[in-house]
Amino acid sequence: MPTPTTTDGASRSDALARWAEQLAAWAIPEEILARAPEPPWGFPAAVFRASARPQEPDSPSRAAAREALPAGGSVLDVGCGGGAAALGLVPPAGQVTGVDASADLLALFAADAAAAGVAHSEVHGTWPGIAPAVPAADVVVCAHVVYNVADIGPFVAALAGHARRRVVLEMTARHPLCATAPLWQRFWDIDRPQGPSADDLLDVLSDLGVTPTVVRANRPGHRDRTDPAHVSMVRRQLCLPASRGAEVAAALAELPDRPVEIVAMWWDPAGAD
Ligand SMILES: C[S@@+](CC[C@H](N)C(=O)[O-])C[C@H]1O[C@@H](n2cnc3c(N)ncnc32)[C@H](O)[C@@H]1O
Repeated sequence: MPTPTTTDGASRSDALARWAEQLAAWAIPEEILARAPEPPWGFPAAVFRASARPQEPDSPSRAAAREALPAGGSVLDVGCGGGAAALGLVPPAGQVTGVDASADLLALFAADAAAAGVAHSEVHGTWPGIAPAVPAADVVVCAHVVYNVADIGPFVAALAGHARRRVVLEMTARHPLCATAPLWQRFWDIDRPQGPSADDLLDVLSDLGVTPTVVRANRPGHRDRTDPAHVSMVRRQLCLPASRGAEVAAALAELPDRPVEIVAMWWDPAGAD
């Protein structure tokens, strides 16, 4: 089998190629996409603002980040969304920087950081392309972002290149859209992919020469499934019009209430300075 290559022709490990291939398999079939009344992808502010995210002050990823943070230290939150990961570290963090591809979510991050009374800055752009414009920090956090990133090697390398002390990654053990795969069967009669998974990311890290500490923990599942903002996000992901909202809400309510496995992984890179 030929060695997989990136678009710029560089060779890529099996784990990196597997990661990208599995993510590509989530593409919505053209005939369904053509019927979508609204863009199916996106991160609504009502779902991703920090106060709407699961509040887990003692989660393994927060504990790992706090352990490495000096009093008043700096945090860089990549794919910050509304900033749940960084703002959950104030204090001891004395300065937080959010990087995100969504200007709307960055505005929420800025407002909530100001309300928390912490020094903050925001960088609008796509990581790792924007990384050269972003200063290093004591701790780099990246929560629930990697399943959006096909070219994961440079993304992870730039996280490590910006961390003076520690990189802390948090993700679900399974791709988050696996939870609503039964709804694709119900509404469109199609199967959705199973991967990638956190284990696939660990294979990627291994190929990149990174051996993180890994802690897995369950949190209750579907606690937000009746929230109108969540229902609306799932309805749009399913390429269905607003008129089908009640059906989507009913289908979500019927899903089994299983816990969600969260995987925290962290490592201390050689240093960014
Ligand atoms: C699922 S949300 C998670 C937000 C936040 N970290 C949290 O845990 O609540 C994913 C976020 O990553 C951002 N994102 C995805 N890929 C990105 C990239 N390559 N560069 C910058 N932001 C990215 C999205 O805009 C979105 O805000």
